[in-house]
Amino acid sequence: MYCYPYKIDVNSDMIVGKSIVFLDEVSSTNDEAKKLAMKGEPDGSVIFALNQTHGKGRLGRVWNSEAGKGIYMSIILRPERALKPEYASSITLVMGLACAKAFETAGDFGKVCIKWPNDILINSKKVCGILAESYIEEKTVKYIAVGIGVNVNNDLAGFPDEVLEKATSLSLESGKEADDANVASAMLKEIDIQYKAFMNGELRSIISEYKDKCINLHSRVRANVNGTIIEGVASDITNEGNLVINTDSGEKRMIYSGEATVRDADGQYI
Ligand code: BTN
Repeated sequence: MYCYPYKIDVNSDMIVGKSIVFLDEVSSTNDEAKKLAMKGEPDGSVIFALNQTHGKGRLGRVWNSEAGKGIYMSIILRPERALKPEYASSITLVMGLACAKAFETAGDFGKVCIKWPNDILINSKKVCGILAESYIEEKTVKYIAVGIGVNVNNDLAGFPDEVLEKATSLSLESGKEADDANVASAMLKEIDIQYKAFMNGELRSIISEYKDKCINLHSRVRANVNGTIIEGVASDITNEGNLVINTDSGEKRMIYSGEATVRDADGQYI
């Protein structure tokens, strides 16, 4: 059972969700968001789809997008003060924190954590992923299409083999059907709060809260940066959203979110 288009609870003072577009089948909500952004769709506009035929994950992966089982949405952000490109990744960490907080309030799903940069895990399995695509012109970010996919009522049979061990859904973790409209409302509310805090210059405290929820900070990690393996202890996350690894040879390496996968030191997912 799903309830689409979702009945979303939006207040008049919210930037995120002021305009919401509900689509049925699309290739990818991020592609729709980018088209609408090019036509001038305002800051905070949200695009939902019931189904994606070519859902995209980070680093060229596919996002499993079964119709009516998950939430597939993209948000157009136009940070009003000129945002330097190096801060575009920090905004995606802000979105990750917002999603994590929304899952904590929208139901009793289990322990929510973030795996750097943008995977949201419940009980150590991935329930939500974020793909942010920025459009940069004259060294400023003109807009960011923040695509968010949530496994809401998926069962194990619907997951591709390669993610079976590491993925879950809200319903699998709580043992009962999850209310997708309620989850989507909680997400927009929390994304609005965190986006406004970000615009208000509160990045430092947002990142500090993010770090408290980050499962791989202070643990041994193995990062794959375009085929080069960097191993060590994840010692910090910068305000630009980069992961700092203290390598075994005593170096400090900065890992940029757009180019890396990070696993634990045994090569496992977390
Ligand atoms: C990841 O974890 O690799 C990121 C997954 C992002 C998936 C969402 S679903 C809505 C939006 N549209 C897409 O094609 N991708 C994002």
